[in-house]
Amino acid sequence: MTNKEIKIAYTEYASIEELQPQDRLLAEAAVEAVALSYAPYSNFNVGAAVQFEDGEIVKGANQENAAYPSGLCAERTALFYASASRPDKAMTAIAIAAGQNGHICESPATPCGACRQVMAQYQSKGGKPMAVLLVGASKVWKFEKVDDLLPLIFDSI
Ligand code: THU
Repeated sequence: MTNKEIKIAYTEYASIEELQPQDRLLAEAAVEAVALSYAPYSNFNVGAAVQFEDGEIVKGANQENAAYPSGLCAERTALFYASASRPDKAMTAIAIAAGQNGHICESPATPCGACRQVMAQYQSKGGKPMAVLLVGASKVWKFEKVDDLLPLIFDSI
């Protein structure tokens, strides 16, 4: 028997202003995308912004529905739109921000498991690491690749 351990590395920034210019643009886009959320049931507004290898950014936000499971998280809304509209461009980063009652949440919102799995697949499709920026009002976490948020990724078929 061998005991093993997986360590996760990430960087914490005190605010969006501390980020490198390209990351800062992406984080700001995620914050802007919070306003695109349609969340009449949870009132939890989530915005996501995906950056491509050439720097272009597209946005998405959570969309809820009276038939609850028909709604979709911000991350997957942005990722599916990114792939469906620019199928040949690699996605190199995604930023996520959340808000309630018109204010960006202090702590970073962390993506659900299904969104992490979808990020993993687009990272694999693009063939380049996809960085993940989790943006809170008082701190920002940066993960250099999806693997850091989803160790032992399922990608075997
Ligand atoms: N939500 C997201 O958009 N992203 C996440 O990573 C977690 C949750 C949304 C789904 C739902 O519209 C609302 O937040 C409350 O769960």
